[in-house]
Amino acid sequence: MKIEKASDMGFCFGVRRAIKLVERAAQERGPIQTLGPLVHNKQVVDRLAGYGIGAVTHLDELQHGIVAITSHGISPESKAMIESRDLEVIDTTCPFVHKAQAVAQRLGKAGYWVLVYGDAGHSEVRGVLGWAGTNASACLTVPQFDILPKRLGILCQTTQNQERFAEFAAQIVSSELHRFTEVRIFNTICDATRKHQAAALELAEKVDLVFVIGGQDSANTRHLAEICTNAGVTTYHIENALGIDYSWLRGHNHIGITAGASTPDEVINEVVAALHTFNKTSKQEVHNEKR
Ligand code: F3S
Repeated sequence: MKIEKASDMGFCFGVRRAIKLVERAAQERGPIQTLGPLVHNKQVVDRLAGYGIGAVTHLDELQHGIVAITSHGISPESKAMIESRDLEVIDTTCPFVHKAQAVAQRLGKAGYWVLVYGDAGHSEVRGVLGWAGTNASACLTVPQFDILPKRLGILCQTTQNQERFAEFAAQIVSSELHRFTEVRIFNTICDATRKHQAAALELAEKVDLVFVIGGQDSANTRHLAEICTNAGVTTYHIENALGIDYSWLRGHNHIGITAGASTPDEVINEVVAALHTFNKTSKQEVHNEKR
């Protein structure tokens, strides 16, 4: 059995940066609360808890002390609310998310309707909508355009599927253009997502089974799994080595590995090691049976 890793996968620049910032702050200044999990990965969140870094789900739960804004960013209203509470703030918003927020703010101020291609319930998207102002919405399918400003600005959640975003924007241009005097499209998908997706597709075209490693609630991991599935290869989204059902490997000889932007190297290495061990044991059993 051959095991092949995607040429680009795992921890992205933004996640590494966020973890480094909060770890350093926790060592120097003590316990930190993050607004939502710092990354969508249980192993990382559990490890950070050991440094006194814990997550709260809502602004109201924030205690006195230091609060970290995650790489997904927050809306200006939430930021103002935190600041008004006399909390010390560490902002780990990923620069790619900052860029999307700035685009949304610019468009909103210029009088465009800001349409974000993304999951309206995701914290990054909620934050970006906040920067856009009142004339903004988010969706994953082309919405009903009834009473809207005549100018439309489209941007994308940083971790969305590139191909789907292109289809979404093309559909609006081809069927809804008559409603607008101007449509502007901004590709705000981040570099890491772009590279991970291209590498996942390249891998999916070579192997006959893919394991996509990452948290079940990690949007970018789910998109990698979707890309591999759409490429026609048998795909399993697992969180770690414990998620492998070895019966899945029956009849598959070339196994691909890719991982989301919040999946640490240790988790990837554990999966690869588990597959190698299984391979070795299976070979030994076949050898013993022949003797
Ligand atoms: Fe930033 Fe993209 Fe990672 S938005 S946090 S570099 S997945």
